[in-house]
Amino acid sequence: MGKPVIKPLVVLLLSLILVSECAAIHSQKRRMGQRVKLSLEECGELEKLEAIEPDYYRIEAEGGVTESWNHTNKMLRCAGVALVRRTVKPGGLVLPSYTNAPQLMYYVQGSGIQGMTIFPSCPESFEEPEEAGQEYREQHQKVHEIRGGDIIAIPAGIGYWFYNNGDVPLVVVILLHTNNVANQLGTLPRRFYIAGNTEDEHGEGGREKSISGRNVFSGISLNLLAQVFGVRVETARKIQGPDDKRKNIVMVEGGLDVVRPEPGSRANANGLEETICTLRVREAVGSAARADIYVPHAGRIATLNSIKLPILADLQLSAERGVLYKYGVYVPHWNLNAHSVMYVTGGRGRVQVGDNKGKNVFDNVMEEGQVVVIPQNFVAVMHAGEEGFEWIAFKTGENAMINTLIGESSAIRVLPVDVVANMYQVSREDAQRIKEARDQAILFTLPPLEEETDGMAKA
Ligand SMILES: *[C@@H]1O[C@H](CO)[C@@H](O)[C@H](O)[C@H]1NC(C)=O
Repeated sequence: MGKPVIKPLVVLLLSLILVSECAAIHSQKRRMGQRVKLSLEECGELEKLEAIEPDYYRIEAEGGVTESWNHTNKMLRCAGVALVRRTVKPGGLVLPSYTNAPQLMYYVQGSGIQGMTIFPSCPESFEEPEEAGQEYREQHQKVHEIRGGDIIAIPAGIGYWFYNNGDVPLVVVILLHTNNVANQLGTLPRRFYIAGNTEDEHGEGGREKSISGRNVFSGISLNLLAQVFGVRVETARKIQGPDDKRKNIVMVEGGLDVVRPEPGSRANANGLEETICTLRVREAVGSAARADIYVPHAGRIATLNSIKLPILADLQLSAERGVLYKYGVYVPHWNLNAHSVMYVTGGRGRVQVGDNKGKNVFDNVMEEGQVVVIPQNFVAVMHAGEEGFEWIAFKTGENAMINTLIGESSAIRVLPVDVVANMYQVSREDAQRIKEARDQAILFTLPPLEEETDGMAKA
């Protein structure tokens, strides 16, 4: 009896393995031919960094709020990114949209489900079971359960929607990497809604100018649209949505009814799910269990790169989740090969950044909702306050790496002691002390310091 069942299973597994192998080779080939666009002029003007808030544009919709950061800010232009935050009420549905840039989304809090229009050539992957006499069987693309701490990667031009099925607001911060080879529409972030009647949260002009907007179907004549869909003109008019007052986040009466994976499927999300249309797009980077570095009492750091989440190789993006406990310190370090766009998710912490001329370009106590861009190679240090300090850093390279200046495996530790003695004009004994400082890895704790600025070369 076993045989007939096993054989199809083996064939299925083999073909799934083949499919994923092909995808890996394919994506490797693509990577070789792909380069990030080089040197943005704005990066030359970074004399002073600032903590910025989402005060550019605000859309109050029926089901929640959308806020954007001013994408013409010179730090954001240097990094080639734009940022949006959405706060969705329980029962709120964010209408599907796509953008001209790859996106990384970090869910700060709440829970919900998210669906994507991946990938146009993928077969639909959920189907209602067949029932006798039923005329219509629902089919749709796979749906993910999402919750606070999850990152989702979205390629350029791929649409997605999400829905808050919890009891608290669902908050998500979204980075658009406009300086990416996948974007051929220029540096302005552009969002295309597939439904609704809403302005673009990045529209030029920001809060000073109200920008009216509709969805992608409004650019097509009503009669043609009705013919193409094979629906009545009134229905086509609903698709274009000129009278829709709900904007880009709508309330769903009585809960959203979609076919979706059984609860618990999260647990084996790394198994078969990965090979269904080959690409996994979600990772729980915020979960404590995913930390790469954990130091009791000081904090934890989790990195997410293309090795852990292969789709990031195509997006050329990666991320770091940092949590510092009371008075925790993240040692001075720099990003080797990427800019770091840091969004504070909670607590308070002092962040200092120095440039290549040895000038301090940033020294601020940051709190929730603020963003700073730490440019490539600039040296940064974070020191948490009493309430701790946590952030998500989006990085503009698929495998962003850091190098530390102090402690285990730091740049100083690997220098010969005599080189250290001569470069700082100190005794061999002191050189050894400098080399061996802070053995506990890259996080430790320090009591609060006076707000001193001794020896700091100010911009
Ligand atoms: C956006 O920033 C630019 C400077 O980069 C400034 O001139 C403009 O007034 C800002 N717009 C809004 C709406 O804040």
